[in-house]
Amino acid sequence: MSQEALSIELADEIRRRIFDEPGFIKVTQVLRKRGNLFRVSLRPVTIKGEHKFQGEMTDAESGGRPVIKNFAEEEARDGLEEMLGQTGARELHLITSTGDLHVRVTKKGHELVSRSAKQNRVAETAHDRVKDLPLNRFDASVLLRAIGLADNEGKVLPSMRGKYDQVNAFLSALDPIIDTFSEKQLNLVDCGCGRAYLTLAVYVYLTQMRGFDVKVCGIDRRGDVLETARRIARDLDAAADVTFLEGEIDAVEPPFKPDLVLSLHACDTATDAAIARGSEWHSRHILCVPCCQHELHKSLKEGGPMRSLLRFGILRERLADLLTDQFRAQILRILGYRVNVMEFVSHDATARNILLKAEYTVKPGQSQAVSEYLELRDFWQVKPWLETRLAKRLAPFFARFGEA
Ligand SMILES: C[S@@+](CC[C@H](N)C(=O)[O-])C[C@H]1O[C@@H](n2cnc3c(N)ncnc32)[C@H](O)[C@@H]1O
Repeated sequence: MSQEALSIELADEIRRRIFDEPGFIKVTQVLRKRGNLFRVSLRPVTIKGEHKFQGEMTDAESGGRPVIKNFAEEEARDGLEEMLGQTGARELHLITSTGDLHVRVTKKGHELVSRSAKQNRVAETAHDRVKDLPLNRFDASVLLRAIGLADNEGKVLPSMRGKYDQVNAFLSALDPIIDTFSEKQLNLVDCGCGRAYLTLAVYVYLTQMRGFDVKVCGIDRRGDVLETARRIARDLDAAADVTFLEGEIDAVEPPFKPDLVLSLHACDTATDAAIARGSEWHSRHILCVPCCQHELHKSLKEGGPMRSLLRFGILRERLADLLTDQFRAQILRILGYRVNVMEFVSHDATARNILLKAEYTVKPGQSQAVSEYLELRDFWQVKPWLETRLAKRLAPFFARFGEA
């Protein structure tokens, strides 16, 4: 047997099981180069409705970051030939729905082959089938590793479990909305995207799992985190569709008109900015999970019949949070959105677990929405930031209720 290549029969079997037989799940080869591990894998994926192959290359010499590339079959065949043509000690693991093939080539060129018993695995496996979560419905391990939520084996890092749960819960909230789009084309903006856990998860989920053609724009004021986000998007071969804008949510313009505006824990009034921009961009859907909220804490007036509610710091803080979200929901209603407010994830994942889910459905300025808002606002004698931000648009609706 040659030290250089796999036996002809074995190489033929691998080609056949990957390209010609049903049930191919993944092939991975690991070899040691100059003392460093070099790992390359190939798996089938569906992207924008097309059957493709996703290659993942991890080279310890270049920092061990996985680099992803999606290939048409012809290119994937070339990639496999390159993989099969590698030399030196290496291990190849082929997983198909009917069983595994494991080949170890020793330093001396001995080929050690083992096969698992026949089994009935489902193709395109998820690595964790325990719970039916969006990121368990397809092999999201490449994404999870790239965005830093999982380790090299694709296991969710204990320290990132909260973010993983939040992202899954956000995707679950998106699912029924996505079902209502007949066009398989979607534009999304993620306001206060940070290092883009949600931005990239939404992109990969909607393209690979839901078959949509998606463009996503993440906005954040921090250039350093966006640098990381852009690098991960490139690693995931998604940079053409996932772009990032550095700046204030209130000041930048995405490169398209969004169908959905998202924000997950955009701090303080950044959630209000996301709501304001979402409605100004005429986004049909706005989904916001607010974060810390400071403005009403300061302006709630002590004294009067509510003074006991405001006496204790923590209760005052929670009351201000609830009121802020209530005002946001009411203003969205005035702007013509039907609003749902829900707990989107368990308290264990984050204490900030309220989702405002809004869909543009009616003519703005409905009397009931306006009067409810004004009553609440006047009762608490406050002026929410969002009202000030949208003053020009709200003025004609408020004028009907005698407000100059
Ligand atoms: C708590 S992080 C959340 C990041 C991300 N959405 C996530 O869930 O991982 C909030 C992000 O919002 C950004 N941000 C806050 N206010 C902003 C504003 N007015 N304009 C742009 N970005 C803002 C911050 O820089 C930060 O990256």
